[in-house]
Amino acid sequence: MGTVVLGTGSCLPERILTNVELESIVDTSAEWIKIRTGIESRRIAGKGEQTYQLSAKAAKQALARAGVAAEELGLIVVGTISSHMLMPSSACFVQKEIGAVNAFAYDLNAACSGFLYGLDLADKYIRADHNMKVLIIGAETLSSRLNWQDRNTCILFGDGAGAAVFGYSDSSRGVIGSKLLSDGSLWQLLCMHGPQSLNPDLLVAGNNGAYIQMEGKEVFKHAVRAMEDAVRGVLEKENISLEEVSLVIPHQANIRILNNLIDRLNIPLSKVFINVAKYGNTSAASIPIALDEANSSGLMAEGDTILLCSFGGGFTWGATLIKW
Ligand code: ACO
Repeated sequence: MGTVVLGTGSCLPERILTNVELESIVDTSAEWIKIRTGIESRRIAGKGEQTYQLSAKAAKQALARAGVAAEELGLIVVGTISSHMLMPSSACFVQKEIGAVNAFAYDLNAACSGFLYGLDLADKYIRADHNMKVLIIGAETLSSRLNWQDRNTCILFGDGAGAAVFGYSDSSRGVIGSKLLSDGSLWQLLCMHGPQSLNPDLLVAGNNGAYIQMEGKEVFKHAVRAMEDAVRGVLEKENISLEEVSLVIPHQANIRILNNLIDRLNIPLSKVFINVAKYGNTSAASIPIALDEANSSGLMAEGDTILLCSFGGGFTWGATLIKW
């Protein structure tokens, strides 16, 4: 049928930052964070855990599980907004790190939707060339891109990486389709400036440094509506009912966004994979980490219909159906 997941992997930094520890960093309480977000702890990258290093570890695991050698890869895409350098890309560092000498590599900036946008690329490349093997990674070290004095944002995010190797199969399994969308008109609601311009004519007003700024309440409303629309959109496009979906793996933003989405879609909680309590919002890494955990836990059987959905800065959002 088409593009299948051959193997998944993930890598989380060792250091765990709990809500209680956050009480000594900003004016907050562990209970407030848990009730308002569902997050209990998150991982924070340390030395040797840059975005590309977490990515490479997740990639090696995914390749080993797929039984694919790094040399067989034709393309590596890293969805990220927290590379340690703007150039080269994290994907090029991963290419070097894992020895994928035959692959071309680049990063993709779609914030929390990075993995879904990358998955769609993998599907298109593989449908065009059945011999192609593609590595898609979602990875972030957002701890380096947070204002640790801003309690509205620093409590929400965490670091990590997830990876999946894709290839062609002529079985009835594979990516069914995606509905991907963006809306740049609301960019101010969730954004992160780059380094300030060295060209005085291009100085950007309001650039306080490269950290996340967010209007939480507005983002919340848009995230729920947009993910619902994308889910309904892809189901309608592919003529599949929600009842046929075995497992939903949503972007792990926070538990209240997920609960609202679950209510609107009227899906049983047992069909939704949730790990936001452990890792917080890991942006582009959240779906591939969750996919890897669901996969490793044996939650997906051959032939199951899996639904992924995301929402993030841009805004970017989407939903993807996979016959596992
Ligand atoms: N600790 C304690 N109090 C806090 C904290 C905190 N960390 N943050 C805000 N508050 C206070 C506010 O200052 C406010 O106090 P006030 O009433 O005295 O003014 C009060 O708590 C309520 O604040 P609200 O902003 O109304 O809190 P809300 O219930 O909206 O929760 C939150 C805030 C968690 C950010 C919520 O808006 C949210 O989840 N938004 C979605 C944001 C998100 O997930 N973004 C991720 C990126 S996009 C994505 O991945 C989907």
